[in-house]
Amino acid sequence: MAGKVRKTNVCTEPFCPTSIDDLKKNILHHVMSFQGRDPERAGNSDIYKALAYTMRDIMTGKWIETQKTYYEKEKKRVYYLSLEFLIGRSLSNAMINLGIYNEVKIAVEELGFDLNDLAEEEEDAALGNGGLGRLAACFMDSIATLKIPAYGYGIRYEYGLFYQQLIDGYQIESPDNWLRHGTPWEFDRKLPVFSVQFYGRLSSYQDENGSFRVRWVDTEDVMAIPCDIMIPGYKNDHVVNMRLWTARASRELDLNFFSRGDYIGAVQSKVSSETISKVLYPPDHNLAGQELRLKQQYFFVAATFQDIMRRYKKKENSNFDKFSNRVAVQLNDTHPAIAIPELMRLLLDVEGLNWEKAWNICTHTFAYTNHTLMPEALEKWTVEMMGKVLPRHLEIIFEINKHFLDLVKMQYPGDVNRLRAMSIIEEGDVKKIRMAHLAIVGSHSVNGVAELHTKLLKNNLFKSFHEFYPGKFNSKTNGITPRRWLKLANPALSTLISDHIGSDWVTDLDKLRDLENFADDTEFCKQWQEVKLGNKKRLASLIEKECGIVVNPHAMFDVQVKRIHEYKRQLLNCLHVIALYHRMLRHPEENLVPRCIIFAGKAAPTYWKAKLIVKLITSIGEVVNKDPRIGEKLRVVFLPNYNVSQAEVIMPAADLSEQISTAGTEASGTGNMKFSLNGALTIGTLDGANIEILEEVGEENIFIFGMTAAEAEYERLNVSRSPRSICDENSVIGAVMDSIQNGSFSRGDGEFFRPLVDSLLSEHDPYLLMLDLESYLECQGRVNDAFLDHQQWTRKSILNVARMGKFSSDRTIRQYAEEIWRVPVNG
Ligand code: IMP
Repeated sequence: MAGKVRKTNVCTEPFCPTSIDDLKKNILHHVMSFQGRDPERAGNSDIYKALAYTMRDIMTGKWIETQKTYYEKEKKRVYYLSLEFLIGRSLSNAMINLGIYNEVKIAVEELGFDLNDLAEEEEDAALGNGGLGRLAACFMDSIATLKIPAYGYGIRYEYGLFYQQLIDGYQIESPDNWLRHGTPWEFDRKLPVFSVQFYGRLSSYQDENGSFRVRWVDTEDVMAIPCDIMIPGYKNDHVVNMRLWTARASRELDLNFFSRGDYIGAVQSKVSSETISKVLYPPDHNLAGQELRLKQQYFFVAATFQDIMRRYKKKENSNFDKFSNRVAVQLNDTHPAIAIPELMRLLLDVEGLNWEKAWNICTHTFAYTNHTLMPEALEKWTVEMMGKVLPRHLEIIFEINKHFLDLVKMQYPGDVNRLRAMSIIEEGDVKKIRMAHLAIVGSHSVNGVAELHTKLLKNNLFKSFHEFYPGKFNSKTNGITPRRWLKLANPALSTLISDHIGSDWVTDLDKLRDLENFADDTEFCKQWQEVKLGNKKRLASLIEKECGIVVNPHAMFDVQVKRIHEYKRQLLNCLHVIALYHRMLRHPEENLVPRCIIFAGKAAPTYWKAKLIVKLITSIGEVVNKDPRIGEKLRVVFLPNYNVSQAEVIMPAADLSEQISTAGTEASGTGNMKFSLNGALTIGTLDGANIEILEEVGEENIFIFGMTAAEAEYERLNVSRSPRSICDENSVIGAVMDSIQNGSFSRGDGEFFRPLVDSLLSEHDPYLLMLDLESYLECQGRVNDAFLDHQQWTRKSILNVARMGKFSSDRTIRQYAEEIWRVPVNG
């Protein structure tokens, strides 16, 4: 047994602290042995790191045991492939899930440190853009908590989502160098390392059985190095693995260049290979031309599949009969959809299977989650680029398409239009590959992320696919993890809840229903209000620190935090702010609730209109916040650099949650759930998961306005009322538009916000802001009146929390496990 530790002669007991002293000893051990620091001189950053390593020590033993059980019980494994994991910080989450939060708090206090200060030392892992990436992170927490034998796979970006600053009210981006000081949460592994091929050419040959085979040769190769992050389940000793790949040059410096005397060429080649995992792409409509993005996608998929194959073959060698009984792969959007031709390539070219067998395995292995209803957001790659970067995959995609279209033809003979619409290849001047069509054809399950979203996928966007594959489409309403979004983010509310109904809600969110019994309990309501006020004071401090604006914690905190996008309609919110401002000026005697209107979110760096919306928000703030006539009654705040850690402070402090997208545009939303779970009431449209929130909380506990998705669709086609006529007929709205157009928020420059005004007044505004504005303003009036009755508002707030059980990501993951992956939960 050379090279292996014998079980008998070493202690393999994991670190398992039994006392506060154990914890302190381990922390100091890390300070000294790993950081070479004198404990007496250690600062917050030293102790934070040592503490993180201590958490890692505790997790490692559990992680090893978890991984072993997968082998011992020959479990079917789930692979969750996502180009984004928006993890945020890990320290408090690890402490909570390991069940030692209070002990650690005492230990660090006894060492002379404050836990909150230590937590602030951690950089957010912002390896995602928004909802899709945060969903993946919530799913990992639920997967671990439900003891599902699963792995997350993605890319270890050196630079996460850009850092947003506001300079003179404009968004300015800078790189998010989150690894500047390293991260204690990862295992930087040396093995397994895989080679990933790009470019090259194809050469065909006949194998020993006379079958036609293809070799992909003369490729440029990049190495994929694994970095593992452990994800602990909640108090269950289960620790799952998230493996993120880093790109390295296949050789330190390419010797071919040296032999030609080209030293610079050698360095450039190395740098170019390693660029693949350098930076996370922001969402951008013009991805089609971006070769590096395609390379990122293939890089992580190819490395992941070599890892999957390696693990599968440990038990089954090259017998692939059981593959789809042992392996389930979930594609988080189409970003990893190149996995479908990749698995085909491995099975055909490397393992020598025939097409039918390989295709059968593929379609039983993959499942695809769609995240968007907007056709322009569906990924497409030009045939030309695919042919250059991944020539063999292009061939396989054509072959998949041929087989698929043959089946469509059989079902709809002569229906050329249908064939053209369903084809994986989009014809035209520039031929493109529709990755969503590839994902649908190659998967056994296609799911939307809310009921409405799935309905619209089936009836509109992918109608012909739904007709062709009845039963393939299904709905899995998104969820959020209660560990991070209530227990961690809102400790005061968590304690209040647990003191009254016990703490089972942490893993069984339906238990929150028991709070309904306290909705009319005066003492409980008082405590509820105190908790909210405390959370608002915490956010008020953050606002003062980040923006230099003092806000009144007794004002209504009216919050819209999410990516800045026209369909999410931050502009609609702006129009209400201006209307409110005008009303407060004209009718100072009116009983209007003081409001603090808070925005946060990043605009994609190339999305100039979204950036102009940011500028409008900050400009309105400049005027309103300085107007002495307004006093404390109205504040408009834009918090820069929205991220997971900031959300953890914002969500618990909100009174009102703005979820105001045009109906039929937001697939689900998950911010809506986080707010409600923290006791904010929603003002929202009948869009995405808002509809399901309405169903759960009841119409008396939510503020719904605006068109339905069907009405919005009708309006786009028929324009029953023009935006200009609305301005003419409604003097409040007319005045709001005039004030933007006469330069009230742009130092007299009436042209400054012209592009936004033009969009609002266009009859072809796809987001239909003006058509929803009257209804929105009226609804905000109802919100105002409701807030005036503090008791009733508190009751509604309690009932919102009590009825959020459905939106736990534990419920979502249970459904994925039972209905798509077919793996046992808590097995
Ligand atoms: P992997 O699944 O090969 O990536 O290995 C992950 C962990 O699983 C290892 O560090 C081991 O703890 C465990 N492991 C790997 N192979 C086996 C096996 O054949 N039997 C039991 N446990 C294994």
